[in-house]
Amino acid sequence: MANAANKRIEASEKRLISCHQVDVNQLMPLKYRWAWEHYVNACANHWMPTEVPMNKDIETWRGSKLTEDERRVILRNLGFFATAESLVGNNLVLAIFRHVTNAECRQYLLRQAFEEAVHSHTFLYVVESLGLNEGEVFNMYHEVPAIADKDDMEMELTAEILDPNFTTDTFEGAQAFLKNLIGYYLIMEGIFFYTGFVMVLSFHRRNLMTGIGEQFQYILRDETIHLNFGIDLINGIRNENPHLWTPEFQAAMIARVRQAVELEIAYARDVLPRGILGLNADLFRDYVQFIADRRLERIGLATQYGSSNPFPWMSETIDLSKEKNFFETRVTEYQSASTLSWD
Ligand SMILES: [Fe+2]
Ligand SMILES: [Fe+2]
Repeated sequence: MANAANKRIEASEKRLISCHQVDVNQLMPLKYRWAWEHYVNACANHWMPTEVPMNKDIETWRGSKLTEDERRVILRNLGFFATAESLVGNNLVLAIFRHVTNAECRQYLLRQAFEEAVHSHTFLYVVESLGLNEGEVFNMYHEVPAIADKDDMEMELTAEILDPNFTTDTFEGAQAFLKNLIGYYLIMEGIFFYTGFVMVLSFHRRNLMTGIGEQFQYILRDETIHLNFGIDLINGIRNENPHLWTPEFQAAMIARVRQAVELEIAYARDVLPRGILGLNADLFRDYVQFIADRRLERIGLATQYGSSNPFPWMSETIDLSKEKNFFETRVTEYQSASTLSWD
């Protein structure tokens, strides 16, 4: 006999967080089509790091083409990403997944979690291919202060949600959850990752370390969708719970982004103490500020810096102003690593 617990649901009853009226196992009817579209787009971008040949990179790394400063740039970014991918994956599975009470969003989160595993796999593969010291690379998040400072900011956010008493049913809890989403999607994946993308892809542009460069292109492509999903999720929760988006909360989130920008500028100074061809820390000050403004405006917060993009070539890889539609024209067939193109 039908009862209230198993009556058929309307899509309109679905909620992104704190949904008590709809069973989270019920994918259809869809309400949040954007979540399903991000899932489908992500699945069209399947790749594995082991599909990318590393011979040229190994030759370059063993040879004398790279200066010590250039090696430092590669190593520091490998060190940052090697652990950052784990932090993102763990926060996703342990903190975000549990509190997003919607089946189509969880479908996307499952896909994203797999992609984070592929990204971690990439760094293991690179470290093994180049014969790097895995203890050194995978401990930079403890041992290199400029990396540790960024990761500490993120790990605190995870710890808050992992508190056994945490719930999004309270005003404070729901705000803390939004803060976690902003901390990971907007700041970690949307700001901290982009400095590394520019640094590593600048080698690719010079036809150096092109295997790692290609892997970073794939990661960038995945992370673009992670960021876009995160922004849609944050804005969706905002729209459903406008009372959370107080002026105080907005000011606090802007302050966090500004704090992240300073940490990222400190990271660029640590990675590029003297600068290398085409890159120096001052350019990254402008770049990080430019990126931060783009992220802030996507969630309806006031831009802070007004800096211009010192790396317009990044637009060849990804045009930030078109992020939202970046993959829409090319998602009809499965794309393997050998067919990546950026047209
Ligand atoms: Fe990732
Ligand atoms: Fe990601």
